[in-house]
Amino acid sequence: MIDIINKAKSEHDLTKDEIIFLLSCEDGSLIFKAADEIRKQYVGDEVHLRALIEFSNICRCNCVYCGLRSQNRDVERYRLSKKQILESAQKAADFGYKTIVLQSGEDVFFTADYLAEIIKEIKNLDVAVTLSIGERTFEEYKILKDAGADRFLLRIETTDKKLYEKCHPNANFENRVRCLRDLKKLGFETGTGCLVGLPEQTIESLADDILFFKDLDADMIGIGPLIVHPHTPLKDKPNGNFDLALRVMSLTRLLMPDINIPATTAMETLNPQGRIIALQSGANVVMPNLTDNDARIKYEIYPNKAGINYTELSEKLSQIGRTISCTKGFRGNKNSPLSLNPSPAGRGKNVNLARTLRKNMTPQETKFWNLVRNNQFQNIKFKRQYPIGPYIVDFIAIQHMLVVELDGGGHNTDSQQKYDIERAKYITSRGFKILRFWNNDIDNNIEGVFETISQTLRDSN
Ligand code: 5AD
Ligand code: SF4
Repeated sequence: MIDIINKAKSEHDLTKDEIIFLLSCEDGSLIFKAADEIRKQYVGDEVHLRALIEFSNICRCNCVYCGLRSQNRDVERYRLSKKQILESAQKAADFGYKTIVLQSGEDVFFTADYLAEIIKEIKNLDVAVTLSIGERTFEEYKILKDAGADRFLLRIETTDKKLYEKCHPNANFENRVRCLRDLKKLGFETGTGCLVGLPEQTIESLADDILFFKDLDADMIGIGPLIVHPHTPLKDKPNGNFDLALRVMSLTRLLMPDINIPATTAMETLNPQGRIIALQSGANVVMPNLTDNDARIKYEIYPNKAGINYTELSEKLSQIGRTISCTKGFRGNKNSPLSLNPSPAGRGKNVNLARTLRKNMTPQETKFWNLVRNNQFQNIKFKRQYPIGPYIVDFIAIQHMLVVELDGGGHNTDSQQKYDIERAKYITSRGFKILRFWNNDIDNNIEGVFETISQTLRDSN
């Protein structure tokens, strides 16, 4: 087993039999460890965040595993307007995301021309645009590419043609492959991937899936375990196996060392530590969902989809020695002309997000937080590290429109002062009041700090 793993690490190539052996051996831990090492060596410790916007849950397909399948009458269908999509994209860009993923069911309402209009507007935000909208013709893909879309996600789901056609009524395996090849031809960074745990899926076919990814030279691979949805024909089947899905992902990393691999939401849904485990077994991408709550609930591909808490994610990432990327995160990240020179407009936001998410709390912030968290102070709900437009404030009581910032006194340079003034202007223009305290006040006069907060709240009532 060690020999095969070493071969994968040095040659990034395995035979189908070797892959099958590693997928079925008793303990996968050495595979996960090797994939983690290769990930570090080729794509480094940066984690790329992609903002996901689910803009329509209307789908003409009838995939047997998916809660959005056309025959599921229990879904309330929605379609975001162009304005809503652009607002969500703006929010994501303001937050500092460098990639926006537009995902939907196969909804023909969104013609290529209409999507092209949306893409062109989003591209003005200096972000990469990824599409995940299903099968289209070469001509349609070309319109989307010409409009500026950078990447496209289309999982093959399984390379077992028979199983594929069983799981996708009225769909055609060859057309799926044609789509992927067209996307590559057109110059999209092309993402594909598979589901692990489809009924009757074999280890052999999973090995074929990995070889297919390699043959296609895919730029991104998303792998997730099947999570059974109660309103689908698979309702009585078991969920996919987490460990097996992780092995498929790790082996993909070993064989395709420089690609982007997300720690998928399905991994986290099956295992409460799934995302971090995946990030330590070969993954280097996370896709937080920025769809507004109302729509998000209705985008139920499978039940109990895991969410992301940013503070928690950034803390967990720093605990495992990982940082949040400031680039658009194209494959390999070195050769992409797009990632070399982020425009000045984008840079500030971008660094801002990365810095903030990475930031560990200072002792004073920790002290303050421990006194206000869980509504302890006058039953006020405080949140920390909260985004307002392009900025992220230390603490906020939204109900009272109050921002609390703690200063260490390091804000002395001219440019920093200018930045602080702009920042304060922006935050107050959005209706917030800012209270600023020195770290020294927190250390030596915390009662005074809380008295000032109380007084401010009394004054504004
Ligand atoms: N469990 C896990 N993943 C699913 N997907 C669809 N339905 C399920 C499910 N029940 C995946 C498919 C699709 C992606 C958007 O979501 O692989 O490509
Ligand atoms: Fe539609 Fe995608 Fe769900 Fe299939 S997996 S039914 S194409 S949303």
